[in-house]
Amino acid sequence: MWRMAAALTRIAAVGGGTAAPARSAHCSSMHHPVTVLCRQISTEAQSVAARLNSSGFLRTQALIGGKWTDAYDGKTIGVNNPATGEVIANIPCMGAREASDAIGSAYDAFKSWSKLTAAERSKCLRKWYDLLIGHKEELGQLMTLEQGKPLKEAIGEVNYGASFIEFSAEEAKRVYGDIIPSPLSDRRLFVLKQPVGVVGVITPWNFPLAMITRKVGPALACGCTVVIKPSELTPLTALAAAELALQAGIPPGVVNVVMGHASDIGDALLASPQVRKISFTGSTAVGKKLMAGAAGTVKKVSLELGGNAPCIVFDDADLDVAIKGTLASKFRNSGQTCVCANRIIVQEGIYEKFADAFSKAVQKMQVGDGFHDDVSQGPLINEAAVQKVETFLEDAISKGAKVILGGKRHSLGMTFYEPTVITDVKSDMLISREEVFGPVAPLLRFKTEEEAVQIANDTNAGLAAYVFTSNIQRSWRVSEALEYGIVGVNEGIVSTEVAPFGGVKQSGLGREGSKYGMDEYLEMKYICLGNMLSN
Ligand code: SIN
Repeated sequence: MWRMAAALTRIAAVGGGTAAPARSAHCSSMHHPVTVLCRQISTEAQSVAARLNSSGFLRTQALIGGKWTDAYDGKTIGVNNPATGEVIANIPCMGAREASDAIGSAYDAFKSWSKLTAAERSKCLRKWYDLLIGHKEELGQLMTLEQGKPLKEAIGEVNYGASFIEFSAEEAKRVYGDIIPSPLSDRRLFVLKQPVGVVGVITPWNFPLAMITRKVGPALACGCTVVIKPSELTPLTALAAAELALQAGIPPGVVNVVMGHASDIGDALLASPQVRKISFTGSTAVGKKLMAGAAGTVKKVSLELGGNAPCIVFDDADLDVAIKGTLASKFRNSGQTCVCANRIIVQEGIYEKFADAFSKAVQKMQVGDGFHDDVSQGPLINEAAVQKVETFLEDAISKGAKVILGGKRHSLGMTFYEPTVITDVKSDMLISREEVFGPVAPLLRFKTEEEAVQIANDTNAGLAAYVFTSNIQRSWRVSEALEYGIVGVNEGIVSTEVAPFGGVKQSGLGREGSKYGMDEYLEMKYICLGNMLSN
């Protein structure tokens, strides 16, 4: 039942090319052949994978109604280590039938899970949190194996991801209703908050744990049950977390995990009247499709979509603070987050100084396999991601941008890319219009505060923005003027379980985390008690 890819399949291991792993989107009835040309053989990654497998931590089946399950037709997909191209495991390649059964299990489990007291649900979530934290090393290793982020950053994500479960365990007890003063003396008016029902949770590869727990924590706390479809690129962390949920005593069927044909599973979730909500993190294009698809059964939707974060550095900024904050935001997860600084908009008086000091700081970052201690920049997720970076860079250079650092694939090959800084970037370049989702820092120039705000708001996205200034009035003024759901002032990392995360414009709908994130999984019921004056 545990299908560790036979001895970490490796077909061509040595050579000087830079071909990246061809991550197949289709199912296979046998182990996936992967052609790999890579200069570095990660024996460390291999031994980590073997250890996780023998300790039972490497789950490779889907979870439906509490049972670990293969695809009904036996088909599988390979999961690669993006740093080496090795196949780490084969997972079931499922479709509509398995998704329907998972929905059925979640629907049945909802009947009893939603009837538990808040305190009972809270206890299960707290236990799950303890198990996630207790296994942070293994979860972090699994994440580095399948996603590539450096181990320290991966363990940081486990802490971050687990914090949503802890917060939800606490918040479960605070799902208060209301009593409304009645306009009529014989009536009493109440507002009751009730769980939405079964939730379809669709999550991306860049945060294999945190994007799941940020949805599943509040959903379960409110009494909902879930069908999770993690990214097929990074399902192993999700499966390990689901195993820990079972160990925490969360009843079978409350948490289900299916993966495979994304569109078939997505369609099954959308079509089912039993699924009352879709919560999605991912691209704006897919978010729009889900929103349209949810209309058929009038489901609630929460969408956390793409960003195009401006990072405005004023002349009056503390240079060290601005560099530290911009660096942290831009290069988190090798530039692969929705809140990464995508446009670094620097005032003309400090532009040259900032560009120089910033590129010196970027140059110090180590690129490599996430299992190596000093590495802060892992690989990009796949070849398509590297090609996107290349296309954006070519476009910028052709329109006048200058590369002052990096600008090409890293000598390690595979999907490693050099941390890059480019100057003279303009608003009409592709890199200013869309998320680059890679380690490229584009520097734009502005003269006045009005111009900075105008450049920053000149996008359909509205997720996160950053402002670096020492002027308190300006920080407030600019924060108010920015059309974004999140603003970091003199800070590049602002995500936390206690604050609302989400965007405006085409960056999404709804908020995650914090007390506001709970409302996304609750319906409001108005109860009117009449005839209250008769004896
Ligand atoms: C994301 O990139 O979608 C999430 C980033 C975060 O939670 O900070």
